[in-house]
Amino acid sequence: MTPLVLALPGNETLSKALAEELGWPMGVLAARRFPDGEAYVRVDDESVGRSVALVCTLDRPDEKVLPLLFAADALRELGAMRVGLVAPYLAYMRQDRRFQSGEAVTSRSFATLLSSRFDWLVTIDPHLHRVHGLGEIYSIPTRVVHAAPALGGWVAEHVERPLLIGPDAESEQWVADVARRASAPHLVLEKIRRGDREVEVSAPTVDGHRGRTPVIVDDIISSARTMSAAVRHLRAAGLSPPICLGVHAVFAGDAQHALEDAGAGLIVTTDAIPHATNRIGIAGLLAPAILSLAVEATEARRGV
Ligand code: R5P
Repeated sequence: MTPLVLALPGNETLSKALAEELGWPMGVLAARRFPDGEAYVRVDDESVGRSVALVCTLDRPDEKVLPLLFAADALRELGAMRVGLVAPYLAYMRQDRRFQSGEAVTSRSFATLLSSRFDWLVTIDPHLHRVHGLGEIYSIPTRVVHAAPALGGWVAEHVERPLLIGPDAESEQWVADVARRASAPHLVLEKIRRGDREVEVSAPTVDGHRGRTPVIVDDIISSARTMSAAVRHLRAAGLSPPICLGVHAVFAGDAQHALEDAGAGLIVTTDAIPHATNRIGIAGLLAPAILSLAVEATEARRGV
């Protein structure tokens, strides 16, 4: 039987795009809150005997995770064959070790929780830092998709004479890849984070790049302090307002205003997290990974 795509609230647009890419139908999932704040979830029993891909991007995860787990449990109780999770933004990837005694290592706990409820997981550019692969913390099959082809394509199509800039050493991997795809030069700054909203980045050496359009690329725009610091340096160095390109549009609190106030030009993100700045679709990148994991899971169940 053809698998189903099911959207948790807020994930309808990406889910429809995925269903089209995959050629799978969309199932029906209703979710709301009772007056006391508890979650209500209902899935149609069309999932019997089918594989299901639940789509739920996991920014602001604490309010999303219980409904997601309830949906997964309901699907299994109703006889779904396999229940996979498409979480374009995968939360709790930053606290990947105990920096101070007594701290919860939330990336591990969260991975254990999701692994207990899902058969597979697909995500895009998770924040892998000290954990080098999801397999180190997730016990289910996972696929990590990279946004670089979509970002590079967007830059090549929309930006004249781009100069790609990564705000910190970690960003080198994807900035270099995006730059190569856009046939553009790149440079990487150094970052020192002094607190959740206190970030310093090194001043760039832009000699030889004047006349180019600066494009800052990062995986996550959360407080936007990292991008704002980079924007300020680039403006002070006499470059034009940088285009700010992010995979995950978390935009916590006043982040977007802070970035605009710093002097950013156009702010562009993928639709991994729905946001007004989304201009780059990722369904086409996610679909092959979903397909391969869903087929693998089905074959494993049949003992192929
Ligand atoms: C950090 O290492 C990431 O790659 C991003 O630079 C970071 O998550 C951005 O965070 P914020 O927007 O809060 O500065």
